[in-house]
Amino acid sequence: MNWVYRHGLRPALFTQDAESVHEFTLRQLRRASASEFACEALESVFGAPNLPVQLFGLNFPNPIGLAAGMDKKAQAVCAWAALGFGFSELGGVTWHAQPGNQRPRVFRAVREEAIVNRMGFNNDGATALAATLRDWRARDRWPAHPVGINLGKSKITPRENAAEDYANSFRVLRELADFFVVNVSSPNTANLRQLQDKTALDEILAALNEVESQASATHARRKPILVKIAPDLSFEALDEILELATRRQLAGIVATNTTIARPPAADARTLTVYGEAGGLSGRPLRARSTELVRHLYRQ
Ligand SMILES: Cc1cc2nc3c(=O)[nH]c(=O)nc-3n(C[C@H](O)[C@H](O)[C@H](O)COP(=O)(O)O)c2cc1C
Repeated sequence: MNWVYRHGLRPALFTQDAESVHEFTLRQLRRASASEFACEALESVFGAPNLPVQLFGLNFPNPIGLAAGMDKKAQAVCAWAALGFGFSELGGVTWHAQPGNQRPRVFRAVREEAIVNRMGFNNDGATALAATLRDWRARDRWPAHPVGINLGKSKITPRENAAEDYANSFRVLRELADFFVVNVSSPNTANLRQLQDKTALDEILAALNEVESQASATHARRKPILVKIAPDLSFEALDEILELATRRQLAGIVATNTTIARPPAADARTLTVYGEAGGLSGRPLRARSTELVRHLYRQ
């Protein structure tokens, strides 16, 4: 299967526009998600061995999860578990629905095993996502692994109202997922990464804690909240976030989002892709994000 995919299917898919292939794949996985039989079939081929991890009160069947951005609209919630992921992070979702940036907005650097994207949080908004999640649950189609939601800031919301924007999304989605990730690190929404600044982030976390305390008045269990950081942060800035993490009882840090940095390009084609505005992910990001993980662990 692996050989057929790598040498047959993938080269064929790579002749097409990246986002169109992504949408096509998600449509197939949405169909599979709706069918118990299809999910069982997927699991029999791709299911992962058990490697259980207990973290912030949740049981993960294995530690490899689906990153945010793959399934922004929760189209394939059951398929991810069937494909062997130990958790899935759905979204990014914003309070207001928004179309994202103009297409094309995803660019492959095939040789470098990398992608540059400037999607710009294209999504249908938190209320629509909540309806989709409720629908999957009502149809008894829900995965057996923890489901997280990645929260972003709406483009139209000014920076000074960011905390309210995140809190609004959190309020309508809170009961529908197991953990939440505050994304203040996407390079594709103007000024978003400034929200990694201590004061701004503290305001957002305070607003989410406020929603939490309203919910816990009804004896609901505390939801784990994590913050997703950019790989372009300095270690000093990271330490400030860590200080907040303790004070605001964060469950964890998600490291890392895409980078605005670009390594030297080996050929003209890669140079063209690296010249696109947006965040770079994939193999060239690995060393830097591992460096951050190392620092976080040390601290
Ligand atoms: C097309 C695309 C869309 C993404 N959308 C989001 C998003 O909505 N929210 C988010 O926090 N990260 C998003 N990301 C970042 C990924 O979740 C991940 O952090 C990043 O790709 C780095 O990991 P990787 O090098 O293993 O891909 C996106 C990445 C890509 C390629």
